[in-house]
Amino acid sequence: MKAVILVGGEGTRLRPLTYNIVKAMVPILNRPFLEHMFHYLKGYGVDDVILALCYLPDSIRDYFGEGDRVGLNLTYVREESPLGTAGAVKNAEKYLDESFLVFNGDVFTTIDLGAMLQFHRQKKATATIALTPVEDPSLYGVVEMDNNRRILRFIEKPPQETDKMGGKAKPSLINAGIYILEPEVLSGIPPQRHFMFEHHLFPSLLDNGSPIYGYPSDAYWIDMGTPQKYLRLHHDLLCGRVSGFDAEKKVSEGVRSWGGDIHPDAHIEGAVLLGERCRISQGAYVRGPVVMGNDCCISEEAFIEGAVLWGGITVGKGAVLRNCIVGKGVSIGENCHVLDGEVLGDNTV
Ligand code: GDD
Ligand code: MG
Repeated sequence: MKAVILVGGEGTRLRPLTYNIVKAMVPILNRPFLEHMFHYLKGYGVDDVILALCYLPDSIRDYFGEGDRVGLNLTYVREESPLGTAGAVKNAEKYLDESFLVFNGDVFTTIDLGAMLQFHRQKKATATIALTPVEDPSLYGVVEMDNNRRILRFIEKPPQETDKMGGKAKPSLINAGIYILEPEVLSGIPPQRHFMFEHHLFPSLLDNGSPIYGYPSDAYWIDMGTPQKYLRLHHDLLCGRVSGFDAEKKVSEGVRSWGGDIHPDAHIEGAVLLGERCRISQGAYVRGPVVMGNDCCISEEAFIEGAVLWGGITVGKGAVLRNCIVGKGVSIGENCHVLDGEVLGDNTV
C-alpha cells in the first residue's frame, strides 16, 4: 500500500524552532519525526511513501534520499506554492491508482492501520477517516456520525464550548489526520489550486452522497505541532506511556545512550536520553524525562528537568531548565532560568 505524507506546513505554531527546520524533521528522541513515522508505516506493510512538500523541500530529501536507510521507496512531490492538504495529494495523482493512505505530517500515533483498512473495505467506503477522542476539540476537525459510523457532518475548528459551570470543553471525536482513500476521490480536487480535505473535499463528497466513514480508535495519538504537545510527546515516550512504541521498554527502564562524559558526582535520575559527546559536570542534576542531543555541555549545579535540548547546547553553572525546549547551539548563562513551556530558537544566547 502507498502512503502520502503531508509535510507542507511551515509549522508556525512551533516557531521559533521551525525557522531552520521543517516541522516533520524536528527531533523526537533525537531522531527526525518522519523517521518514526516511516518505521510505523513500514510495520503495516507500507513500502512506498510519497512526501508532499512545499517548505524547505530539500532538507528532507538530503536526509532520507530514496529511502534506503529506512527500507522504503520514497518519492518527493513538490508544490511551488502551498496547495492545501487535498491539493497536495492531487499533485501526486500520477502515483496513486489503488486505495492509499494519507497522513498529516505531524501526528504521532499507534493507530492500527491494518484494522482500519479492513474496516474501510468492509464498509466499501470511498474515504475512511481515523478518529481520536480529545478533551478540547477547538484546535481540530470534529465529525458527526450515525450509528453505523457513516459521517454526516464536518465541523473544522469549532469554537471552544464550555459547560454550564463555565469550565471544561466538551470532549469529542476528532479527525486524526489519517485517511484511507479510493483514487476516485481525486477527481473531485481541482489541479494546481489550493484545496483542503477538511473544508472542501470531504464536505463536497458528503453532498454527493459518497460513503465516508469514521474509524474511531483509542490508540495513542498526538498532533505534535505545538510546543506543549511536542514536550508532551517526549514525556509520554520516555515514561513508557505509548504502548506499542518499540523504544518504550528500553526507555522506561531508565537512562540510556551513554557515550558522554558524566562526572561521578552528577545526579541523573529517571528516563534520560543523552546524545553523543554530552558532558554533565559535578553537582549537576538531570531529572527525567529529559532528552539531550549531541554535544551538550551542562555545567556544575545546573538543574534540568522535563526538558528537550537539541544539539550543541551549553548550560551555565546553576542554571535551571524545566519543561522547556531548547534549539540547536543555544547558550544559557550562569543562573539563568528557562521555565515551563518556554522555547528558545537555534543559537539563542
Ligand atoms: N503539502 C502540503 N501543502 N501540506 C500541507 C499544506 C499544504 O499546503 N497545508 C498543511 N499541510 C500539512 C501540514 O504540514 C501538516 O502536516 C498537515 O498538513 C495538517 O496541517 P496542520 O496545519 O497541522 O493542521 P491542523 O493540525 O491545524 O489541523 C489538521 O489536523 C488535525 C489533526 O491534527 C486538520 O486535518 C484537522 O481536521 C485535524 O483534526
Ligand atoms: Mg497539525
